Amino acid sequence: MSEEYYPYVQNLFKRWAPLYNLMEPFISQIRYHVVDIVKAPSGSLILDVATGTGKQAAAFGKKGYTVIGIDLSPDMLRIAKKTISSSQVTFLSADATHIPFDNDFFDLCCISLALHDMPPEVRAKVLQEMIRVTKPKGRIVIIDYALPEASVKKFLIFHFVKLYESKYYPGFIQSDVPKILQDAGLKIHSDHRVTFSAVRVIQAIK
Ligand SMILES: C[S@@+](CC[C@H](N)C(=O)[O-])C[C@H]1O[C@@H](n2cnc3c(N)ncnc32)[C@H](O)[C@@H]1O
Repeated sequence: MSEEYYPYVQNLFKRWAPLYNLMEPFISQIRYHVVDIVKAPSGSLILDVATGTGKQAAAFGKKGYTVIGIDLSPDMLRIAKKTISSSQVTFLSADATHIPFDNDFFDLCCISLALHDMPPEVRAKVLQEMIRVTKPKGRIVIIDYALPEASVKKFLIFHFVKLYESKYYPGFIQSDVPKILQDAGLKIHSDHRVTFSAVRVIQAIK
């Protein structure tokens, strides 16, 4: 596993944590859109991997689902626990490369705006862990950056996002996420583009 990744990501989110929720007005509609797209059966148990300040977990919680959010940044989790008080949502400190739950435990496992912050070997391990803890026929949901088809928009969005994103973003955006999921044995269920096609919501079935 990339040795420089853990100190890098810890420091990155130590700096970002106090400011992170300032971006929420621009992102919040995606959270509820995701809940609507996913339409998980009522009573579903959901794991929100790399939950950060917990906003995607909270959006699922508001719809009555039971949600566990995990993250390795104490700074991001502190804000999640301070700002989200829902009996539906629990936050835990954990590394997504070693998810502390049994096999086939969750109905749905999602990761929102976080895979692009990971080097390829960490991304692969996190996906493998998400698949392990999801029940057979359960769902894996990936919400992350995408690029539009049109070349001018593509160029502008790529260079804009690169200005503020982590050093792993360019590698992530060139990767073929649906193919990675299919190669891991999952079946793609849906693939939605939101926010001017700059974000993608991919649902896959285990
Ligand atoms: C850009 S934030 C996204 C937070 C949240 N999911 C959202 O949608 O706003 C990325 C988060 O991934 C977390 N993270 C990165 N690597 C992780 C790992 N290996 N295990 C758990 N969390 C991780 C970071 O600590 C950070 O909180």
